[in-house]
Amino acid sequence: MNLATFLNSKKYDNEIKEILIAIQIGSIDLYNKLNQQESDLFGSLGQKNIQNEDVQKLDLIANDIFINNFKKTDCIHSVLSEEEKEVRILNNSGSHLIAMDPLDGSSNIDVNIPVGSIFSVLMNNEEGFLQKGSSQRLACYVIYGTAAMLVFAIDNEAYGFSLNIKTSQYILTHPNIQTPKTGSIFSINEGNLNSLTKSVVNYVKFCKELNSNGKRTHTGRFIGSLVADFHRNMLKGGIFIYSKTNDKPEGQLRLIYECNPIAFIAKATNSLSSNLKEEILDVKPEHIHQRTPFVVGSSEMVQKILSLQISERT
Ligand code: AHG
Ligand code: MN
Ligand code: MN
Repeated sequence: MNLATFLNSKKYDNEIKEILIAIQIGSIDLYNKLNQQESDLFGSLGQKNIQNEDVQKLDLIANDIFINNFKKTDCIHSVLSEEEKEVRILNNSGSHLIAMDPLDGSSNIDVNIPVGSIFSVLMNNEEGFLQKGSSQRLACYVIYGTAAMLVFAIDNEAYGFSLNIKTSQYILTHPNIQTPKTGSIFSINEGNLNSLTKSVVNYVKFCKELNSNGKRTHTGRFIGSLVADFHRNMLKGGIFIYSKTNDKPEGQLRLIYECNPIAFIAKATNSLSSNLKEEILDVKPEHIHQRTPFVVGSSEMVQKILSLQISERT
């Protein structure tokens, strides 16, 4: 079943359908650009974004692609993007807000490693984008990997669609995604190990323990594209950790357009997420580009790291 037929079979509002179709069109356009390998599309622009990070040409191309597709709907009031300092108003009478990371993992583009796009959809209300993640109506990501996949969660259910490049259609391949309660994968940038809190270091040590037969109990995997790391762990079972470090005392990932949508999808697959103090979806954002420590994954693995956190405090 393709995405349009699937959406027509569901009682979602027209706005939700319109937004998912806009993401579908934009993501296929972006996937084609990523695959063109035209050298003038790749590389750094030599400028920094609001987060003081190197802007890749494709970061801005991705941003423009999605904004242009969102402009064609009439239900989107405004867009918050990682690539734009201020919120951009599209339609004063729009009922929905979209926060997005148009290209996630962009430092991986030049080396042919999967990247993604992430979207959080909220109702437009007086809180604007500073709503808790639990208020999201819809969260979606697209992974541009060996295949392109569009994954979204709504009404506490998560679905995955794979792109058929011959017909340019997303086909439902993963109905009702469920993450195993536990898994063997831990995903953390170990370059940060010496500046992590004791409990996080202890969790990594726990993952490296051998069993009674001297065999490893876990396997380490870190791609450096949140979407790709999360997607693998979601399907196979595992935990992703990006807690605070000396370099990034607030954490590295952005609450509103990276962690919230991923946490919302995780919840629909029965996973847990936390900032190591409270559930990510319960955090009230204070500013639009806020960063946060982030742990997400199989419920028993997240509970384990939280229990070490508690024992560190007591
Ligand atoms: P972005 O490309 O949107 O800036 O996101 C990069 C993020 C995330 O995808 C990844 O998990 C993390 O940054 C990697 O950070 P390190 O290079 O510090 O490991
Ligand atoms: Mn990102
Ligand atoms: Mn990005």
